[in-house]
Amino acid sequence: MAITAIKGFNDILPGEVEKWQYIEATARRVFELYGFSEIRIPIMEKTELFARSIGDTTDIVEKEMYSFVDKGENRVTLRPEGTASVMRAFVEHKLYAQDPVARLYYMGPMFRYERPQKGRYRQFHQIGAEVTGVTSPLVDAQVLTMLCHFFAELGLTEPRLEINSLGCPDCRPAYRTALQEFLRARLDRLCDDCRRRIETNPLRALDCKATGCKEATMDAPSVLDSLCTACDDHFARTRSALEQTGTGYAINPRMVRGLDYYTRTTFELVTGLLGAQSAVAAGGRYDGLISEIGGPAIPGIGFAMGVERVALLLSERDFSRRPDLFVAALGDEARDAAFSLMSGLQRKGVSVEFDYEGKSLKSQLRRADKCNARFTLIIGGDELAAKSCPLMEMDAGIQEPVALSVEALCLRIRP
Ligand code: HAM
Repeated sequence: MAITAIKGFNDILPGEVEKWQYIEATARRVFELYGFSEIRIPIMEKTELFARSIGDTTDIVEKEMYSFVDKGENRVTLRPEGTASVMRAFVEHKLYAQDPVARLYYMGPMFRYERPQKGRYRQFHQIGAEVTGVTSPLVDAQVLTMLCHFFAELGLTEPRLEINSLGCPDCRPAYRTALQEFLRARLDRLCDDCRRRIETNPLRALDCKATGCKEATMDAPSVLDSLCTACDDHFARTRSALEQTGTGYAINPRMVRGLDYYTRTTFELVTGLLGAQSAVAAGGRYDGLISEIGGPAIPGIGFAMGVERVALLLSERDFSRRPDLFVAALGDEARDAAFSLMSGLQRKGVSVEFDYEGKSLKSQLRRADKCNARFTLIIGGDELAAKSCPLMEMDAGIQEPVALSVEALCLRIRP
């Protein structure tokens, strides 16, 4: 039996990959406009990095990591997200020594052992961006504006931005206690997971998909009512900066996020178009993360989008590439000449398709049609002798003679 790919691990085939390249190129272009530089981080890290940063009691660390002991007895993990690795690199290479303000973006595969379904995979891809060293809410607004700018560049009106504030180590404990009391009073209506989480990670109950938990937490206390003055002010100034840049948003006080490192601003870009998977991109501020992993007390904020989910939102659009020219040839001599012409044109930046096998003219023209070339050239013995050949412009349905030289063809195809 043929060997197939691992469940939840996908191939991205030609035809689909062009869409991915477009998404990646748009991200690079937009992010670089805002002063971000790319960083490439390893796919595997010490397990401890994720346990310490994402949090021991999160679903990711408890259930979803691809962790194993390697041949040197090291406990290692395939990265489930990028923020922890980027911050590890930021600290390890002391990037803050030159300037605590770093603007970094990354793209690549992440790994989580989740139940695969539409928009949710075990190997998935993120494009993320992180900013360090700025506490000002202007940077929260700037990061969100850049993310929305990226989606606008893709021509997408979905997803919509939802924001929240999770407070800081000063004000969150009081909210956590209030929520624990609220949940304990409704214990019998909660699922097993949420009952357990009351002690370890009570905020996650607000995000539980079980109907009983949803109903039981409908009137749960809002985190926004327990923010300290500094966090309340930070959130208010973030919102007014968003209004200044014309970035639309809705406040969702129930958004708690699945990673523990967040402080203050959190956000998700959500859509109703992807079934059960509503978050296309998500992120927030993590002012304690860098010191938590052994670096100085430098704040940070960032996001990551799921590329598969962005690609699904673009699924209606045609990204297939069109070659500039198809060269059909009749006979061995013409095929040799067509081959030289093709090489010369490709070196000049013209994309050319050609039939290597010397099939019938009919079959060559069928291929020209199938690959949707902009121009077609048919070279036979007479054309070789005359050093001239009719060039067909396929969309316009017109045909004009052209000299059989790389220069003349370039001028006509790529004037
Ligand atoms: P996250 O919410 O875990 O955040 O993931 C961000 C995005 O990755 C999600 O909104 C979703 O689009 C995509 N994603 C997550 N899991 C899967 C999956 N199994 N299959 C397909 N797509 C998925 C983070 O990872 C944070 N590091 C974001 C961040 C950056 N926060 C601050 N900086």
